Formats: sequence, C-alpha cells, structure tokens
Amino acid sequence: MAFFQPLLTPPCHCSLTLFLFFLVVPLLPPAAPMPLHEVYSPRLAYRGPVIPVSNLVKFLERLQVVALNSFGKLDFDLKYYVDLSLKFDLNSTERAFDALSRSSNGSVPVEDLKTFIGEYFDSAGTDMVYSDPVDFVPRPQGFLPKVENAGVRAWALEIHNYWKNLSRKVSDDIIHRPDAHTLLPLPMPCVIPGARFREVYYWDSYWIIRGLLASKMYDTAKGIVINLISMIDEFGHVLNGARAYYTNRSQPPLLSSMVYDIYLRTGDLEFVRNALPALIKEHTFWNSGFHSVTVRKAPGGNHSLSRYYAMWNEPRPESSLLDEKLASKFVNNYDKQRLYSELASTAESGWDFSSRWMRDHTDLSTLATTSILPVDLNVFILKMELDISNLARAVGDFCLAYKFLEASLVRKKTINSIFWNSEKGQWLDYWLDNGSHKGVHTWDAQNQNKNIYASNFIPLWIESFYSDSIQMKKVLKSLRNSGLLCNAGIATSTINSGEQWDFPNGWAPIQHMIVEGLARSELKEARVLAEDMAVRWLRTNYVAYKKTGYMHEKYDVQKCGDFGAGGEYVPQTGFGWSNGVVLAFLEEFGWPEDQNIDC
Ligand SMILES: *[C@@H]1O[C@H](CO)[C@@H](O)[C@H](O)[C@H]1NC(C)=O
Ligand SMILES: *[C@@H]1O[C@H](CO)[C@@H](O)[C@H](O)[C@H]1NC(C)=O
Ligand SMILES: *[C@@H]1O[C@H](CO)[C@@H](O)[C@H](O)[C@H]1NC(C)=O
Ligand SMILES: *[C@@H]1O[C@H](CO)[C@@H](O)[C@H](O)[C@H]1NC(C)=O
Ligand SMILES: *[C@@H]1O[C@H](CO)[C@@H](O)[C@H](O)[C@H]1NC(C)=O
Ligand SMILES: *[C@@H]1O[C@H](CO)[C@@H](O)[C@H](O)[C@H]1NC(C)=O
Repeated sequence: MAFFQPLLTPPCHCSLTLFLFFLVVPLLPPAAPMPLHEVYSPRLAYRGPVIPVSNLVKFLERLQVVALNSFGKLDFDLKYYVDLSLKFDLNSTERAFDALSRSSNGSVPVEDLKTFIGEYFDSAGTDMVYSDPVDFVPRPQGFLPKVENAGVRAWALEIHNYWKNLSRKVSDDIIHRPDAHTLLPLPMPCVIPGARFREVYYWDSYWIIRGLLASKMYDTAKGIVINLISMIDEFGHVLNGARAYYTNRSQPPLLSSMVYDIYLRTGDLEFVRNALPALIKEHTFWNSGFHSVTVRKAPGGNHSLSRYYAMWNEPRPESSLLDEKLASKFVNNYDKQRLYSELASTAESGWDFSSRWMRDHTDLSTLATTSILPVDLNVFILKMELDISNLARAVGDFCLAYKFLEASLVRKKTINSIFWNSEKGQWLDYWLDNGSHKGVHTWDAQNQNKNIYASNFIPLWIESFYSDSIQMKKVLKSLRNSGLLCNAGIATSTINSGEQWDFPNGWAPIQHMIVEGLARSELKEARVLAEDMAVRWLRTNYVAYKKTGYMHEKYDVQKCGDFGAGGEYVPQTGFGWSNGVVLAFLEEFGWPEDQNIDC
C-alpha cells in the first residue's frame, strides 16, 4: 500500500481556491491546466502479484487432451475440463489418471474415462452453488414505470426473475480446499452470465449491474463490485474472470462505471470511499508497463495511450487445443509464443475474436492485438478518470478529483488527436509500427485502421463527446452511412470473417453504449435514432426469446428474432448482459401500451 502513498498525498496543493473551484464550477476545465505529469504519474508502474498457472490447471489440460481423443469432437467443450473440481488430492488423482490404459493415439476407452472422471471429479459448475439473492422480490416496487404494454411487462418480469437463476456464491469447499478448484474464492454472492460462463466475468458485470439497478437489487450489485475489488487487492487488476487460468489478463475496464452508476442510484458514500483506492490502483495498471504506449504527434507532443496486453505466452487453458492447432503452422517457438500472447491479449479486449485485430481478415493466426491502440479501451480509461474525479468529489477529496479531472482533459485531447478522423467522422483504431514495442511511436495518418467497427463509435457513450454537438452531427451522419445500422440492431463490423465479434453479430454491450450516448445528446435526431435502435434490439431479443425460450449471448442483426453464431464455441444462453441491456433499455425508453413488440 505504501506504494500508492504518492497518489493519495499528491504534489498538488489543495488550496482554498481549488476547494472553491470544485464547489462553485463543478466540472468546468480550469483556465490554465497543469501538465499531467506534474500532478499524476501513471508510470510509477504497479505490477501486482500474478499467480503462475497452477499445477491443477496443467493437469486438467492433460485430461482435456485425453478426453478429446477419447470422446471425439462432437459436443466437446474444452472449458468444461478446466472447470472440474478434484474430489481427492491432485497427486492421487494424477496417479490414477496415469494408470488408465491408453491406446496408441492417446485415447482411453470411453467407459474407463467416464468412470475415472465420475470417481475423481465433481462436475463443472458444482464449485459455484445457488445463492438466493437477499434483495430479490418477484415484483419490485417502481419496476420499469414507463413500460405500459402488459405483454412486454410480463417478459421484463421474466427477465428480472432470471437474476435468481443466475445468482451464485462459491461453495464452502472452495474455502476449505482452494487447491482442489480452478475457481477463485470471492467474498460475496454474484451473478454469472450463464451456460458455459459459470463464473464471474469482468466486463459482463457492468451490464448485469445495469439490469440489477433497474431491478432495484442494489445489494447484489454492490456485492459484484466488492468481488471485483477483491481481485484488485489480490492481483493488482480485475481478472478476465474468476478462474486460476484467467489470472494474467484483464478485460475492458468498467469497474469505475459500475461504482459510479451504483452511487448515482444509492448515494452510498461509504461504498464509494471503499472503492476509490482500488479504482486508482486499476487506473495505474492500465497506464503502466506493457499496457502503456507513447505516440508523438506535432504539435501536441507526446500522447500517452493504452493497449490490451496479456502477460501470457501459452495456449489459453480453456481453449488450449484450439490455440495449439492454430499455432501449429509456426515452426519456431518464438512465433508460437507470440501468437499465444496475441490470443490472450485479444481475450483481454473482450472482442475475441474479430477481424479488428487481424492483419489478414481470413487468418486468425495473424492476430496482432498488442500492435493496436484501441479506441474503446482509451475511452473506457477516460471514463475511469471522469468517474474517479466525480466520485472523489462526492466524498470531498477535491484534490484527487482535480487530478483526475486534469487527466481526463488530457486524455480527451489525446483521443481526438490520435483516433479522430474528420473525413470519416469516426474515431479509428491506431496500428503501431512493427517491431517497436518500446519507445515512442511517431503518429502517421496511414496507421489509422480505416475499417468500420462499432468500436469507432464508442466515444459517443461519454459526455465529453456526446455533448459536442458539432462533432456529434458529423458522427451521426457517419453512423447512418456506416452499414452498421441493421434491421435488428447495430452490427459489430461490416466484415463477415466468421468470427463472433464481426458482421452479422450484434452484442448487447455495443448496442447499449452507442444508444445511451445518442439518447443523452442534445440533438433531437440523435435521440430519435437511439430510440429506434433500442426498439429494434428489444424486438429481436423478445422474438428470439419467445421462439427459443432463451435470452442469447449475441444476435444476428440481419433478421429480427435470429440469434448469433460463429467463433470458437456454440452460442450461449442465459444471458447476463443481454438481460441487463433489455432492462436498461426498457427503463430508459419504456414501451407504450399500443406498440406491438413482434418483428
Ligand atoms: C483412437 O483410438 C481408438 C481405439 O484404437 C479409436 O476408437 C478412436 O477413434 C481413436 N481416436 C482418434 C481421435 O483417432
Ligand atoms: C505430491 O507430489 C509431489 C512430488 O511428486 C510432492 O512434492 C508433494 O509433497 C505431494 N503432495 C501431497 C499432498 O502428497
Ligand atoms: C431457472 O428458471 C427456470 C424457469 O424459468 C426454473 O424452472 C429453474 O428451476 C430455474 N433454475 C434455478 C437454478 O433457479
Ligand atoms: C517525448 O518522449 C521522448 C521519450 O521519452 C522524449 O525524449 C521527448 O523529449 C518527449 N517529448 C516531449 C515534447 O515531451
Ligand atoms: C503470468 O504472470 C506471471 C507474473 O508476471 C509470470 O511469472 C508468468 O510467467 C505468467 N504466465 C504466463 C503463462 O506467461
Ligand atoms: C508488419 O508485419 C506483418 C507481419 O509480421 C506484415 O504483414 C505487415 O505488412 C507489417 N506492417 C508494416 C507496416 O510494416
């Protein structure tokens, strides 16, 4: 903790003037901004402890290989095997495993393997047990007041009821025998996305929390945040998910948004006070080490930006055989490790996988995520700075509030300087030059990625950008002409690569950020478009739900009522963030009595 002392007692002087500044003109930029480096230096790199992949994970990967050889490819999910829990200690389990008779191709007779797994393991998912949410009521008071239509209200209540289905806590055995599980202990109950995603995920949690807030489940929402903060305490960052095999990567950083939105609904200052140190620590994580890159552009000089970069150079355990197969085209170890690192870094981006990160859109082995400065990540960090500033102000720490306001002003300039392309009316990802992972990069207009991705519009989500009506008009025109606005929602990209974060898939979080930003704009046409896109999204979710009985992880935006496909696993149901966005949209826009919700 001593490490963060400089941040908490900063070199900026909290004079009376500064105090009054925050009191009187809360969010206006100061007349003469201090240079960022004088007030806050993220380069005091914090690198928290990271547990090396456990022996258990290594063993389960071996089991995974034998299981695939023995059971065959049909319905085989690699992740299932790294989610198994040991009934006995690892040594005796390994001994029994090694004693199984094997044929020359490494397979074990199906019945023998089934018996072994049944005898030695508890099945995946048993490490998380059902937990009755303390703040759940079947019909919350004041639930979605703007939803008038009875059919839509009944559907919304069913989705609300899913919070009960998706609520879990870690089993007692996790506490008593942590080494027998790949699941990491979490102090509070939580809400999982669903299906094969049996544990807490980082960025999913933001939209789950948005839904929980619409459902008035404030304690459950706070519990999720407390869990994520416990990861920062232990690892120095929020993990991709709560598993031993996710320790070396994070996910799009939205913890500050969670804390801020919960604060806005509950006014709980104690909660904010407890969260702030973790938020500051996370800000440092994303602005130091390999995550941090400097780009030089005249006349502004050096700009500090962030990229996704997982500290991992092996196959991802939950997908190890897929990763190995992809890497098998490379002969030397260096190239294989580089690909593994790119695969894990892409998982950190949340967009796994997408043409967005591929040098050749037809070849996944050309992933180059660590050579890209992503628009959305840098917007999330700007949001983090604004959130920290606002939260610090709420608890009366004006000095901290001022520092992060400063940081946000610098980053807003940086985002417009490096990513903004006024010809296209979009913010474009930036490709770093080859082979120069260190040092300063010199900005070159040619390095902006000219392809159209929904992420090019994510800046709309935050006030710094949606409140600029002149820029907004340009962006709006560009969005309408982008090819992303489809019958049943906003497409992820215009490229059909077969990967799941590409055309024709639409994802709830993307819809939500773009629609929410448009809805908050002062431009009437932006607000009209927001509602139109929200209605399309709600219809397709509703019709797919009635057709299949499930809420889906992603949808096909070409046709109302179709869910999505593509990528490395079968489409999932449940589903945390889709449920959250439906409730958030219904809360924002309502649904009139006489408006049909069918396609
Ligand atoms: C491995 O060998 C067994 C028995 O020899 C056979 O049944 C099985 O299909 C083989 N598996 C693969 C993946 O070739
Ligand atoms: C498991 O085996 C390793 C080496 O084979 C040994 O060092 C360790 O003490 C054993 N653990 C238990 C719990 O028996
Ligand atoms: C989930 O919901 C369904 C009804 O929608 C119910 O039948 C089932 O028992 C629930 N499962 C859990 C674990 O609550
Ligand atoms: C930019 O960074 C480089 C490398 O750290 C440094 O040499 C240079 O002086 C910086 N330029 C400005 C304008 O700060
Ligand atoms: C995970 O991170 C730790 C700490 O940085 C490192 O020692 C370990 O080698 C990393 N694991 C992989 C597989 O790269
Ligand atoms: C960077 O390297 C990749 C292959 O490693 C190559 O395909 C690409 O053209 C290079 N880009 C530049 C700008 O040199």
